[in-house]
Amino acid sequence: MKMKDKIALVTGASRGIGAAIARKLAGEGASVAVVYNGNRNAAQQVVQAIRGSGGQAAAFQADVADEASVQAMVQQVAAAFGRIDILVNAAGILEVAPVGQISRESFHAQFYTNAWSVVAATQAVLPYLPVTGACIVNVSSSLVLQPKPGSAVYSASKGAVDVLTHSFALELGARGIRVNAVAPHITRTDMTAGIPPERIQAETALTPLGRLAEPEDIADAVAFLASDDARWITGRTILTDGGRM
Ligand SMILES: NC(=O)c1ccc[n+]([C@@H]2O[C@H](COP(=O)([O-])OP(=O)(O)OC[C@H]3O[C@@H](n4cnc5c(N)ncnc54)[C@H](OP(=O)(O)O)[C@@H]3O)[C@@H](O)[C@H]2O)c1
Repeated sequence: MKMKDKIALVTGASRGIGAAIARKLAGEGASVAVVYNGNRNAAQQVVQAIRGSGGQAAAFQADVADEASVQAMVQQVAAAFGRIDILVNAAGILEVAPVGQISRESFHAQFYTNAWSVVAATQAVLPYLPVTGACIVNVSSSLVLQPKPGSAVYSASKGAVDVLTHSFALELGARGIRVNAVAPHITRTDMTAGIPPERIQAETALTPLGRLAEPEDIADAVAFLASDDARWITGRTILTDGGRM
C-alpha cells in the first residue's frame, strides 16, 4: 500500500486510461477523486468498483477545458478529502483532420481540453497541495515524437503538455512538487476503438513487446511516477509504448 493516506485527483477517470489510473491508485491505498465530464454513470461504476475492493473514492464533475468548472470541482474535492497529494491530468480528446480541414473550433477544443486543462488543474490544486511530497502526472502521447497524418493538432496539444510538464517542474520544485508525464502509444480505449484492424496489426508487429497497451499498462507507470519510489524524478516525460518508438 504505497499510497496509504494519500489523496489523489484523477481527471478523465470515467473511462479508459484515467479509470485504470483511479483504480490503480486506489488499490495502492489512495483515496481517489474520480473526475468525469459527461459520463456520470461510468464514473459511478469506477467509484463502486473501488469501494467494492475496500478502497475510498467519490465522483466529481468538471469540464477540464473551463477553469471555473475546474476550480469549483477542486474546491469540492478539497472539502470532501481535506487536501490533494496527487493530481493526474488524464482527460483528453482526439480529433483527426488533415491539414486542409483543420478548423478553429477543433484546434480550440483540443488545445483547451488537452493543454489548458493542465494549466487550469495545476493552478486550482496548488493551494491544497501539502508542503512537501506532492506530485502531478500528466498524460502526453507518443505522437509528440512521431505524429501521424491527421493528428497534427492533437500531437501539438500534447507537445504543449510536455513543455508545461517540464516548465512546471522547474517552477514547483522548490515546493517539493514533482511534475512528470507519461506518453502512451496506442492503448485500448474508446479513443482508439475506431482504428482499422489492419493498422492495429501493423502497429502490433512494430511493437517489440508484441502487443498494444492496455489502460493498466499506463496506469502502473503513472502509479510509479506518483509514488515515493519516483522521488528523484521530475520534469520528465516517460515513454510508455512497449518499445514502439
Ligand atoms: N488511448 C490511447 O491510445 C492514448 C495514447 C496516448 C495518449 N492518450 C491520452 O490518454 C488520456 C486518456 O485517453 P483515453 O484513451 O483513456 O480516452 P477516452 O477513453 O476517450 O476517455 C477520455 C476521458 O477524458 C474525459 N474528458 C474528455 N473531455 C473532457 C472535458 N472537457 N472535461 C473533463 N473530462 C473530459 C472523458 O470524460 P467523460 O467520459 O466523463 O466525458 C473520459 O473520462 C488522454 O489525455 C489521451 O489523449 C491516449
